[in-house]
Amino acid sequence: PPDGLALTPPMGWSSWNKFAEHIDDKTVREIADAMVSSGLRDAGYVYVNIDDGWQGTRAADGSIQANERFPDMKALADYVHSKGLKLGIYSSPGPKTCAGYEGSYGHVAQDAQTYASWGIDYLKYDLCSGEAFYQTGAQIRASYQEMGQALRATGRAIVYSLCEYGRADVGSWGRSVGGHLWRTTGDITDEYEVMARLGFELNGKPQHAGAGGWNDPDMLEVGNGGMTHDEYQTYMTLWAMSAAPLLMGHDVRHMSAATVALLENPEVIAIDQDVLGAQGQSVRKDGDSEIWRKPLADGSVAVALFNRGAQSKTMTLTVADSGLSAWQSGRDLWQQQEVILQPQLTFTVAAHGSQLLRLQGQQ
Ligand code: DGJ
Repeated sequence: PPDGLALTPPMGWSSWNKFAEHIDDKTVREIADAMVSSGLRDAGYVYVNIDDGWQGTRAADGSIQANERFPDMKALADYVHSKGLKLGIYSSPGPKTCAGYEGSYGHVAQDAQTYASWGIDYLKYDLCSGEAFYQTGAQIRASYQEMGQALRATGRAIVYSLCEYGRADVGSWGRSVGGHLWRTTGDITDEYEVMARLGFELNGKPQHAGAGGWNDPDMLEVGNGGMTHDEYQTYMTLWAMSAAPLLMGHDVRHMSAATVALLENPEVIAIDQDVLGAQGQSVRKDGDSEIWRKPLADGSVAVALFNRGAQSKTMTLTVADSGLSAWQSGRDLWQQQEVILQPQLTFTVAAHGSQLLRLQGQQ
């Protein structure tokens, strides 16, 4: 049964893309502070997720302990909660995690109880190691179900993120094992071509997405420096159109005003977080030009124009592209201004750039 969590795609931050396993209590606290002072929390980014690298050894009773970089996980959770944020953590169904730390194999129920006792609000469960146990789709699914049940049994509201890279058609069963989001791809990197391949080509099926369960094309790299501003804007446009989880992956303590503007644009976030929960998709493709459409709860439509080419180009949008029969009003969401409507709109779209519109009109 639905548990009322992740009614819209989860938003927050994760340690992995910037810090990998070099993450500690002090950094997490500073990130939490910066999420508040920068306005990111108030823009909707509330999960502060520790990814791989926090785990230590097991105690004599088998319970998992954090390593020396995290002296007191419960105190850290209390701190994060005191800032109006939520704390996430990470494990693997195998004996080891991807980075070689202790996994949950053989300790699933016990680990879920430990997380709940610390006050954890989110678990990313990443399929690494244990190849012998997790060969078939049924075995993979059973391992995710086991943790899903264990989390539910704690009675704590814990968002459950499945990370098995889209194997075994996870979108078709992610929800039924208690999952709230499921990765559909391998790892993203801070490179335009990789982001574009994941976001344009490898996202999950729209019919699997909706309140409580989301396709996850992986976390954000915005602010990490590997892409141009136009490319990062495309990243945000594409993730918002895809109703993708928005989990930042940069050093929130040190970011430019341009990064803040990309991440905090309320009209763009509203597309991602729209309560209809529809995952947008491509409706017209012409060489390097692509138009995407996402229906919204108020009857309006989000339309994105993507120029996937390396030269700036002129793109046109027709009323028919938007799926409406006539336009009454339109917003340019990156410019945050009204669009002057004509039967056919023409835009100059930068190389690897995008336009994002919200159009209101007759259905
Ligand atoms: C692989 C995942 O895809 C990454 O996001 C990260 O969680 C690493 N594993 C951690 O080892």
